[in-house]
Amino acid sequence: MFSFIIKQAIRVRKIIQFLSIKKIFVPLSALSGIVTYRKPVIENIMSTYTSEDQRKVTTMRLIEMKRRGEKIAMLTAYDYSMAKLIDEAGVDVILVGDSASNVMAGNVTTLPMTLDQMIYHAKSVVKGARRALVVCDMPFGTYQGNPIEALNSAIRIMKESHAEAVKMEGGAEIRESIERILSAGIPVMGHLGLTPQSINKFGTYAVRAKEEAEANKLIEDAKMLEEIGCFGIVLEKIPAALAKRVAESVSIPVIGIGAGGGVDGQVLVMHDMLGINKDFSPKFLRRYADLATIINEAVGHYVSDVKTSDFPNEKEAY
Ligand code: KIV
Repeated sequence: MFSFIIKQAIRVRKIIQFLSIKKIFVPLSALSGIVTYRKPVIENIMSTYTSEDQRKVTTMRLIEMKRRGEKIAMLTAYDYSMAKLIDEAGVDVILVGDSASNVMAGNVTTLPMTLDQMIYHAKSVVKGARRALVVCDMPFGTYQGNPIEALNSAIRIMKESHAEAVKMEGGAEIRESIERILSAGIPVMGHLGLTPQSINKFGTYAVRAKEEAEANKLIEDAKMLEEIGCFGIVLEKIPAALAKRVAESVSIPVIGIGAGGGVDGQVLVMHDMLGINKDFSPKFLRRYADLATIINEAVGHYVSDVKTSDFPNEKEAY
């Protein structure tokens, strides 16, 4: 009798295993530990990624992610509430970008941003970020002058906002400033290619480093940033083949924006990818939502409810 039960159990288990391979059932835990199954997983088109690893992201862990080939997801944020939302959605790095100048303050370029304004934004973001590493942009005019001024600016950012790293635009021209900041134990992320703080020199937001001389300088700059101790580099709007070459020639993570898929991670400006700011539509931008329309409709609905005295009703009053 006992051997009959065992044989039957083995048969059932084989059937379940077969169904599992065919993805009709997937093993889990049931049937007294002999056989296990659960319903098939339904693929979700708008899938969300939830990191298994809920530990705080550090600069070291980003380098490990590159080593094991795990792509890094970085996004900008400028306030507490949005930082909390994107942190919970699994973003690895939150950049408090000086793009705040465009999307928060309505300026045409990033140049007007001040150190006090960046610290204000970074301070709010840090409070909302639990897992993601928070990197704060050093604004235009706070690090190009001399290394001591650069160090003082970076120290203010770290001390007052509690951000965990700073990002700086440029290569060989700002080497001494970067080195001075690194020597104080402040992690630095480089930014090469289209560097928006130099827009008045470039005169255009077109793709950078298409010519050999600029491409060669960019590769040299990237190697230099790695050599002096930067923990990562953002490459903005350069040919995908060049970005891939850079990512393959350094051991620190290379995060692209308009730099193709051959790099170690991607960064986008949150307002652009959520469709809050619809005036900006470069080829590299993928829009994941149309919040402008959602907000417009919701607010329109509210205005109409107020005008028609539909809001508030009795249940919404004390
Ligand atoms: O300021 C910013 O948002 C940036 C990204 C575009 C990388 O520097």
